[in-house]
Amino acid sequence: MRMDYSLYSTRTADPAAPQILKSLRAIGYSLEAAMADILDNSISAGAKSIWINYVWSGSETSVAFMDDGCGMNDAELLEAMRPGSKDPEDERASEDLGRFGLGLKTASFSQCKMFSVMSRRAEQQVVFLTWDLDFVCDHSRKWELLEYMPKGDWADELGKLESGTIVLWNDLDRLVGGVRKDDPKAQKLFEEVMIKAKRHLGLVYHRFLESRKVKIYFQGREIEPWNPFLPTHSATQSFPEELLDNGRVKLRGFVLPHQSKLARGDYERAEGINGWYAQQGFYVYRNERLLLGGSWLGLLRKQKLYTLSRIMLDLPNSMDGEWQIDIKKSIARLPVGYIDRIKAYAAAICSKSAEVYNHKGKIISRKNITEENFQPVWFEKQKHGHRFYEINRNHPVVLNSVQTNLSPLLHLLEETVPVNVLDFSAGQNVEDVSRPFEGEKLKELKKLLKEMYGVLIRTSTPGEVKSRLILIEPFNEYPELIASL
Ligand SMILES: Nc1ncnc2c1ncn2[C@@H]1O[C@H](COP(=O)(O)OP(=O)(O)OP(=O)(O)O)[C@@H](O)[C@H]1O
Ligand SMILES: [Mg+2]
Repeated sequence: MRMDYSLYSTRTADPAAPQILKSLRAIGYSLEAAMADILDNSISAGAKSIWINYVWSGSETSVAFMDDGCGMNDAELLEAMRPGSKDPEDERASEDLGRFGLGLKTASFSQCKMFSVMSRRAEQQVVFLTWDLDFVCDHSRKWELLEYMPKGDWADELGKLESGTIVLWNDLDRLVGGVRKDDPKAQKLFEEVMIKAKRHLGLVYHRFLESRKVKIYFQGREIEPWNPFLPTHSATQSFPEELLDNGRVKLRGFVLPHQSKLARGDYERAEGINGWYAQQGFYVYRNERLLLGGSWLGLLRKQKLYTLSRIMLDLPNSMDGEWQIDIKKSIARLPVGYIDRIKAYAAAICSKSAEVYNHKGKIISRKNITEENFQPVWFEKQKHGHRFYEINRNHPVVLNSVQTNLSPLLHLLEETVPVNVLDFSAGQNVEDVSRPFEGEKLKELKKLLKEMYGVLIRTSTPGEVKSRLILIEPFNEYPELIASL
């Protein structure tokens, strides 16, 4: 239905500057996501180098971002400082990392109460402006900027570049509010948060850093790219790319090497900030900039067996609406039309991951001992094309507890194994698999392990007992407990 607006009179409901600015602070940025929004602007402005610097001064600590991009003139800077400086529905240059005309303001205000931008286009004069929350809320109560730049040799720094921009965050109340400069604990915490942010930026921009399109210096040191796919490792399996929507969306799956094939450094690097298990899933890139990583986007649940699967998912900036890219550039939602194909692709990669995970997992816990020695609790067997499970009657714990005739009971258990629930094939929503007896039941396992040790030690040396235990399910999952016996 099309309304005839001329029929109605109107009333104005202008937003109130203090309230809106305060609310913009609550969009939910993390420090690293906020930093990335500032860096996005530098990259979109064609920067080849970006410098992030800070000097610890307690609550007076400031963070400066400088780039050698195209810079802005006076009118452009004023426009840049305006919340909603661009229409989110406008078509953007294919390399532009922006969308909403908000990032500079929302990201900065999420971390600080005052931020200043100084900029210079080639052969033009330096311009600067400051948004100050206290000024807007307590004095002007209007959408008013200050023609002010905090003290520092910022203009000299910019003068060394042909063109460029500095974004300066001051009064970082959320990070260092009310903190004294001589508080070593606070300083340590601050440094830790910064290091985490630095690592995150190495992941978000790893493709730019690898191709040397841009260099990012953090406190003077170049940030190393962190590629979550370990593509150069000889044991990484890289799968053929799948193109959707005429190549606008691209998928490329990787199954990372099992831990046993990784040198310690590689293992720790691949584990990233959140650990191996958390890193499985899609890595969604928009114009090669990572939006989010380590998520199955609601298609699958995380499982140990999928730990080694990571899938690169590439989007152009022309699909922002369809994929519901958010202001923080850290959310993307899978459009319904893609679900089937993307799920099928992910399922194939996950089943490969499960193969590598299972296979190598067994080998690692058995060390160099042949497979026949291994004592599982269950045997998987086939009869007339159907899978069934049989309890291993020679399993030491089973043998030890069979004093009367337990055969009928064992048989009953075998007949009632809920095979379909245990099906780990990729793509099925199965609860996460933990180690048997993990968590609260660990006490039970320890008791069982001690008992077993007591039985076996009657006929063997402690060393022999330990090497037998590592072959017995479920003790094989707990080498650390066996070692500590
Ligand atoms: N470092 C910079 N160098 C040159 N121009 C910049 C820089 N930072 C911001 N701008 C200009 O300011 C505008 C507004 O930036 P802002 O981050 O608020 O929005 P955006 O990048 O357009 O979209 P988004 O909200 O998605 O980030 C940019 O579109 C760009 O024109
Ligand atoms: Mg931006």
